[in-house]
Amino acid sequence: MGDKITFTIDGKDIEADAGQTILEAAEAAHMYIPRLCAHPDLQPYGSCRVCTVLVDGRPQSACTQPVAAGAVVESGTDKVTEIRRQIIEMLFVEGNHYCMFCEKSGNCELQALAYRFGITAPRYPYLFPHRDLDATHPDVFIDRNRCVLCGRCVRASRDVDGKNVFQFVGRGPEKRIAFNSEANLAGTNLDVMDKAVDVCPVGAILRKREGFRIPVGRRAYDHVPIGSDIETTAAK
Ligand code: FES
Repeated sequence: MGDKITFTIDGKDIEADAGQTILEAAEAAHMYIPRLCAHPDLQPYGSCRVCTVLVDGRPQSACTQPVAAGAVVESGTDKVTEIRRQIIEMLFVEGNHYCMFCEKSGNCELQALAYRFGITAPRYPYLFPHRDLDATHPDVFIDRNRCVLCGRCVRASRDVDGKNVFQFVGRGPEKRIAFNSEANLAGTNLDVMDKAVDVCPVGAILRKREGFRIPVGRRAYDHVPIGSDIETTAAK
């Protein structure tokens, strides 16, 4: 890698490679910055803002913001925690997330973030949007009620699978995931082993006939909070 630079996160000196993002540098220093749209195998996208930090007092997404020498980054302060908590709550009310009925429960990153932040009930009114699902594909289904528009499937299909199966269409409240087939998911060239199927952080894209292959109680976040594998500090 290139030149080393030094900056601080919550008062701790962090040495990083020039060109790294704040999220990458924090992770190398065992500091967990919550994230949802970011994925280690995909290009940063910066859409969810769950990774918001304050850089010299200004909000930035840690997954896209490069490190800068001498920068003062806040990540674990009450102010930043409250920003992230509000974003997570808005994600819950904006969709239809019925965790108790979802196969992804226990492996869901949105649910795990809510647990980590101690969110029991969002303070905002639920919008209960009308969204559809598509179960026409023989091996995979998509339930847009649970989609958080993170774009992981879009990037994975484009950059890893080389297929462009998924794409965003619409704007504002009408924004949704569409396919490279006007008919339905079965009309696409999506394969059950595609990376795009693996990377969904919630229960929007799931493989069929795999429900409860991992029993409830033995899932990724059933026993440890999300981020436990990264951190050795108490950063939130
Ligand atoms: Fe950084 Fe989504 S994880 S904006």
